[in-house]
Amino acid sequence: MIKIGILGCGTIGGGVIRLLESKGVEIQQKMDNQIEIKKVLARTPDKARAIGVPEEKITQDPDDIINDPEIQIVVELIGGIDTAKDFISRAIKAGKNVVTANKDLIARHGNELYKLANEKNIDLYYEASVGGGIPIIMPMRRTLAGNSILSMIGILNGTTNYMLTRMSKEGMSYDAVLKEAQDLGFAEQDPTSDVDGLDAGRKITILAKLAFNADVSDLDVRCEGIRGVRQRDIVLAKDLGYTIKLLAVAKDKEEGIELGVYPSFIPERHPLAAVSDAYNALYVTGDAVGDVMLYGLGAGAMPTASSVVGDIMQIARHIKAESTGIGNDLRVFDKQVLPAEKTVYSYYVCMTVDDKPNVLSAIAKGFGDHNVSIQSVVQKHTTDNWAELVLITHDVEKKDIDAALKTIGELPEVGRVDNVLRVMNDL
Ligand SMILES: NC(=O)c1ccc[n+]([C@@H]2O[C@H](COP(=O)([O-])OP(=O)(O)OC[C@H]3O[C@@H](n4cnc5c(N)ncnc54)[C@H](OP(=O)(O)O)[C@@H]3O)[C@@H](O)[C@H]2O)c1
Repeated sequence: MIKIGILGCGTIGGGVIRLLESKGVEIQQKMDNQIEIKKVLARTPDKARAIGVPEEKITQDPDDIINDPEIQIVVELIGGIDTAKDFISRAIKAGKNVVTANKDLIARHGNELYKLANEKNIDLYYEASVGGGIPIIMPMRRTLAGNSILSMIGILNGTTNYMLTRMSKEGMSYDAVLKEAQDLGFAEQDPTSDVDGLDAGRKITILAKLAFNADVSDLDVRCEGIRGVRQRDIVLAKDLGYTIKLLAVAKDKEEGIELGVYPSFIPERHPLAAVSDAYNALYVTGDAVGDVMLYGLGAGAMPTASSVVGDIMQIARHIKAESTGIGNDLRVFDKQVLPAEKTVYSYYVCMTVDDKPNVLSAIAKGFGDHNVSIQSVVQKHTTDNWAELVLITHDVEKKDIDAALKTIGELPEVGRVDNVLRVMNDL
């Protein structure tokens, strides 16, 4: 029998407890071993009582779990960084194997914790930290390990994907869809972490550490969220054969690692364009395997619990085989993060300009002076003396498009630059 302690009895903690209880017999048959929850840390004990945790298993003292010699696996599900890091570090030092779903912590301090886990020869598993119920970490760690991973492009935040899907399918505005998502409980009252791309940034950081053996943190990710995406951009994207998605991007290039989260145009025919509502997906390109897409529910109590329980079972097998710590050989190579201004993309630019002759040539010159060449231009909508001009550039360095947009914004013919978004043509 393997005894475990669970730190945190919220959405995911509750899901894990329910899954382990309901699948107890099946798990025992599959593993020829039993997993018993010995203690649950609950800051609000009523939450543990409400899901049927017996009184004698509920504690408000983390040391009842961390210092219990019978507990071999500690499952951290409190979230946040500092306290969770303290609990996990102490658990590892006490020789416990650890499972966590905590993307904030792994993205910020993962390498430090992996090192600690290595020193103690224990397992530190975190499948649920990226993509909730989608198996991503294990395939990256094991099945795809023989590849050089060239790029990973992910839709890794269900809230923003739900919002962009509603904006696209129902023609809703950003403000209306955010309110709806908050009313339905899909978005937090403070939606910053989702809509500003920070949550997706943490997840792509974890994947970049794993795939590129890079010592990166979430602070290295350039995050641009969806607050600026207008209903009009979605309509224009559709007209041009694209869908707008919030993409988390990691690329291993000779010049350095690129890490970013950007609302982007992707061609409608690309498999990521079909990932709708709260679903997540990761599109991985490896030099041997080619393109692989992993898809499923990226959040929610039971999908996430599914990943946490899978980790617990895997560690239980290692404990039985006395082989914990074997998968922890994470080496870190010295790789630089590519500065944002050196990243190269094609851009969509929507602007409101004077509806007069020679405007286009002035704009083309403004772009050309900064090495930006234009792939296509469409004049969409005209009112009074104004025209809406939509153009797509060829691939350019960010520093050049920024300089060109500054010049163009100052032209007397240009009323305003309405929006600028990346166009991912060669995913
Ligand atoms: N929700 C998802 O769909 C999802 C998906 C993937 C990963 N995750 C990750 O899973 C983790 C848990 O998320 P969640 O959604 O379950 O959060 P949650 O519902 O807020 O649950 C966290 C629980 O931990 C408790 N807690 C917080 N600090 C504590 C402390 N110092 N001591 C004891 N208990 C403490 C909270 O107690 P109170 O009840 O008293 O507040 C709460 O019950 C996070 O790292 C999150 O990023 C969540």
